[in-house]
Amino acid sequence: MRLTDCHNFADFRRLAKKRLPGPIFHYIDGAADDEVTYRRNTEAYETVDLVPNVLNGVDAVDMSVTVMGQKLDMPLYCAPTALQRLFHHDGERAVGRAATEFGTMFGVSSLATVAVEEIAALAPGPKMFQFYFHKDRGLNDALLERARAANFNVMALTVDTITGGNRERDLRTGFTSPPKLNLQSAWSFATHPAWAWNFFTKEKFDMPHLSGHVDQGTNVAVSVGEYFSSMLDPTMSWKDAEKLCAQWNGQFALKGIMSVEDAKRAVDIGCTGIMVSNHGGRQLDGSRAPFDQLAEICDAVGDKIDVICEGGIQRGTHVLKALSVGAKAVSGGRLYLYALAAAGQPGVERALGNLRAEIERDMRLMGVKHLSELSRDNLRYR
Ligand code: LAC
Repeated sequence: MRLTDCHNFADFRRLAKKRLPGPIFHYIDGAADDEVTYRRNTEAYETVDLVPNVLNGVDAVDMSVTVMGQKLDMPLYCAPTALQRLFHHDGERAVGRAATEFGTMFGVSSLATVAVEEIAALAPGPKMFQFYFHKDRGLNDALLERARAANFNVMALTVDTITGGNRERDLRTGFTSPPKLNLQSAWSFATHPAWAWNFFTKEKFDMPHLSGHVDQGTNVAVSVGEYFSSMLDPTMSWKDAEKLCAQWNGQFALKGIMSVEDAKRAVDIGCTGIMVSNHGGRQLDGSRAPFDQLAEICDAVGDKIDVICEGGIQRGTHVLKALSVGAKAVSGGRLYLYALAAAGQPGVERALGNLRAEIERDMRLMGVKHLSELSRDNLRYR
């Protein structure tokens, strides 16, 4: 199987599975508890049908959107995800370059493996920094100021990681960052020599936003669940979010909002966006799917704040459904991470290209030239 055989999400996933050592593949692929929420995030899109209109002369279609002040050439962007150099040796560089090529935004995690300064230099397009609120206040200030100095356009505070999710696949495989060398992992590296060669012979693994502040994740191997539970501040409150929003003093979003009540509070503290998200099903299993929850949130705050529907997106039709309900844009992690693992920057470009082609084709088949023509009139719930 090669990159040119990858036509959809499932194809990239299959190729990533072949390329990656088991613990790393399952870190991306896995979710919390029974992974019910993870499955539901995509299945939710299948409970709604599109009702197309025809004979609208759709030779030219415009899929650009403006989200949190950023003009994007497509209504989908790469959500921030951690540890990308474990998936491919180019890591965040590959994703940043690919997103810039497609005129869309991408997120860089606090737990990224390439520094914001380097990413800013190679990816001049719109960029989001994902912020984890640590116990270490010096680290928090450094994160914010580095992202500001590197001219990141949007700050997104993750609010659904107050403690680590129960990722049982990681418990079983023993996945940590940095990867631990034991009998089990050594076997998985030995059976994936191309990955192992790149990982062990290229530059030393690092998380440049953390190193110098904390040892966990770089010098001390921990699971992501342990990192959340021990390093992030469980006292984080609305007051802290409001302070951060004021300190950033620019486009600011809360990532991981699920209730109408919280969406309204996000507006009250001065946010310009929210990601309706359950962290890809990796935190609270049994949580509702973003798409299921989208309508009530858009009804409550859609005219005051940009609502982004995050997670579960695998198809252009999913994007059109979320936008029909009222989302300004959608984002996802796995939709580009398998492709990154499969083939680096060309992989991410192929994944984004497939999705862009689907959105364009689906707009034509729906009879719309502009995304603003989509509305709930185009949808029927089963
Ligand atoms: C995860 C974090 C790091 O879900 O976003 O693994």
